[in-house]
Amino acid sequence: ANCHLDESVGNTDGGSWRLIGPASELSKKRCRLMHSSLGYDSDVCLFYVKGEFFAMDARCSHSGGPLCEGDIEEAEGVLQVFCPWHDYDFDLRTGKSGTSLQQQVYEVKLEDGNVYVKHPSRLSLQPLPAEQKS
Ligand code: FES
Repeated sequence: ANCHLDESVGNTDGGSWRLIGPASELSKKRCRLMHSSLGYDSDVCLFYVKGEFFAMDARCSHSGGPLCEGDIEEAEGVLQVFCPWHDYDFDLRTGKSGTSLQQQVYEVKLEDGNVYVKHPSRLSLQPLPAEQKS
């Protein structure tokens, strides 16, 4: 998505660039769940839709539904994910909803064929050790 090449790894805007993996691999699925080192509530979805990556909090801000499993639709050029639990919509680019809710979104960049997401915590495609207890 948006590339801000002037931003090096650092702590601006509440996050650092996290290396997720090769775009060629990540683009094979419509959505990947990225586990956050902050725990379940902070997990992030990495969507790949129409040639573009989007990162958004994975747990719906309504009641925690799994947005990775939501349907994606485009209306008037706006890509939206619909929560599988109560069908609330969220704009993939801004996190805004037709309801009053706002889902947190994160910047994504591509560099040397790799996908990076700007996030306050470590992100991993594999469950992180701290989460395996439950
Ligand atoms: S939990 Fe997502 S719409 Fe209710």
